[in-house]
Amino acid sequence: MNKNLLSLNDLSKKEILELIEFAKNFKLEDGSFRKENLFPDKTVANVFCEPSTRTKSSFEIAAKNLGCSVVGFDISNSSVEKGESIYETVDALSLMGVNLCVLRHPESVIRDLSEYLPEMVFINGGEGSISHPTQALIDLMTIIENKGAIDDLNIVIVGDLDHSRVTSSFVEGVSNFAFNSLTFCGHPSMSTKYMSPALGKYEPDLDVALHDADVIMTLRIQHERFEETLNLDLEEYKHAYELTSERLEHAKGDAIVMHPGPVNYIEISESVYQCDQSVIRKQIANGVAIRMAVLSRFLSS
Ligand code: CP
Repeated sequence: MNKNLLSLNDLSKKEILELIEFAKNFKLEDGSFRKENLFPDKTVANVFCEPSTRTKSSFEIAAKNLGCSVVGFDISNSSVEKGESIYETVDALSLMGVNLCVLRHPESVIRDLSEYLPEMVFINGGEGSISHPTQALIDLMTIIENKGAIDDLNIVIVGDLDHSRVTSSFVEGVSNFAFNSLTFCGHPSMSTKYMSPALGKYEPDLDVALHDADVIMTLRIQHERFEETLNLDLEEYKHAYELTSERLEHAKGDAIVMHPGPVNYIEISESVYQCDQSVIRKQIANGVAIRMAVLSRFLSS
């Protein structure tokens, strides 16, 4: 296994499945998580240069559950605000004894950082619109728990595909499996990278895309990543791309509905978020289990 988790392509199918199996051990029957003092001599820093609720909090909870010390780094009150580069910032944390850095950054800096500081372990907590490997592990784990396997499934991803690091890492992950179909659906202006995908197909009509779906991954519009203000009629957008209860009827009766969060209720209706087929809240809880597994593996390597 690589020293760092920078991309899901760093992991083989065997390693992905082992991490998911390992993560299951950290989940307890009552919905809480196992606490084991496995790494009392390790310090983890959460360096988040973009907002986060789920990823940042779950890495912190996971690290504490494993007995690590955690530096909850607040970038807006750090010396980055005084002009210090991310290289100097993470170097300073390394000199203070941080062993592992979870980094979320709007730009692709994590590879260069990992070469600049080879003694530090790096886990990608979200790299611009490029990748989010631990989210993909959560998504694969949630599918396997709910559908038994990924093989033979019809998978649909709908929403702002172009700006979604969740989509790119998810595609890297599912490419290891013999799924039946992978369909990308979204507004053409947000689907330019997925019109002729290397894997799967693009379908502009959501009702058609949903036909016989087993897994539906919904994605919010990432307004923060548009270079110009989005000139879009949201009612028209919802009319075409919102996953509603009526639309869900096109999918298989036991299809599961996913969303990496945060949810904006433009891409998905509140009734679908709350319906029995929604596993969105399970994805959030699986975040702690997967991050406990990832931290255990990468702190041990
Ligand atoms: N899914 C995800 O990365 O959520 P946060 O931005 O809240 O961490």
